[in-house]
Amino acid sequence: MAEEQEQEQSSDPGAKTLGNFPFYYQFNPVDERLNKLDSAHVVSTILSVDNGVKDDVPFCLLDIGCNTGELTVELQRLLASQTKRQVHCFGCDVDPRLVETARASFLSGNSARIQQQGGKVEADAPRSLEFGVLDVSEHDALAVEAERFLRARGRDRFSLVCLFSVTMWIHVNVGDDKFMRTLSTLCNLTDALLVEPQRSPSYKTCRRRLRRGKGEQPPYIDRLALRGAKLFPAIKLQIEGAGFALVAELGTTTWKRPLWLFVRRGNPACSGGVDVDGGGVGADGDGDGVGIEEGHVQIAASDDGGENELKKTKTAARDDKGDDR
Ligand SMILES: C[S@@+](CC[C@H](N)C(=O)[O-])C[C@H]1O[C@@H](n2cnc3c(N)ncnc32)[C@H](O)[C@@H]1O
Repeated sequence: MAEEQEQEQSSDPGAKTLGNFPFYYQFNPVDERLNKLDSAHVVSTILSVDNGVKDDVPFCLLDIGCNTGELTVELQRLLASQTKRQVHCFGCDVDPRLVETARASFLSGNSARIQQQGGKVEADAPRSLEFGVLDVSEHDALAVEAERFLRARGRDRFSLVCLFSVTMWIHVNVGDDKFMRTLSTLCNLTDALLVEPQRSPSYKTCRRRLRRGKGEQPPYIDRLALRGAKLFPAIKLQIEGAGFALVAELGTTTWKRPLWLFVRRGNPACSGGVDVDGGGVGADGDGDGVGIEEGHVQIAASDDGGENELKKTKTAARDDKGDDR
């Protein structure tokens, strides 16, 4: 995959097969996502997944599709500002040029910068912030990198894995099965998961924009069974099936995407849902799979032995414009 994005597809910086937009944060400022997190106990719920972990072991965040690193760094700052525990972040991206930019922006003089931002860095400790080139759909490479990062910090799992606006890019490039397996693989690596998935209309926009820009279409974009009304329930069910409960829907972010917080069942942070204005889930924290995606699809808990069943309600998206970024 990395080879493909080396080839410039068009002069349209919005036409990218991997979503590897070079000026992403000029169009999509980080505040929008941070605002959704920086409210109503969300951060403390996220941090509490590490309750029971020794205090000198860092909270570890894996940010997938970190692009040029702005959101990763701000997430680290936000989390670090509300805990005495160190917060260590690994931002990874499939595009080496983006990773290089992230490193140049945030890692030269890393310690000073993170300390300034309220983080905690010790001279002889592993860096609290790393950026690396990684295609997370390559599960062996993912396992190797995750183990390297975690072992150096005395952990066997991340505290939190973030998937901000990256699910579609993985999905259209590897297809339904591998995308679903990638979600399960990521679940095995973490105690909590924050997911901001692209909605179905974004897939259309992606295809349209690449066609217009004469860019190469992602290999699976026309061969997906998990689309339309099936998309969000499939993502949720896959994560719940891997042992997680949806503890909060944190409202919708830029481009009208929802932001879901999942926590591993059995983790202390899983017990109470997060009460979030406008989020409207909370009650889903019991892991029964009930969830509403913008009023289109309801996953209802069936009474036949706990099997979830998809109840399709209205699927017509009012706004079909979507944005593929
Ligand atoms: C639309 S941008 C989102 C950036 C950032 N997560 C955010 O929301 O602010 C998607 C990013 O995911 C990266 N990406 C796409 N497929 C990936 C994969 N399989 N593994 C890792 N990163 C990937 C792209 O290079 C791009 O930087």
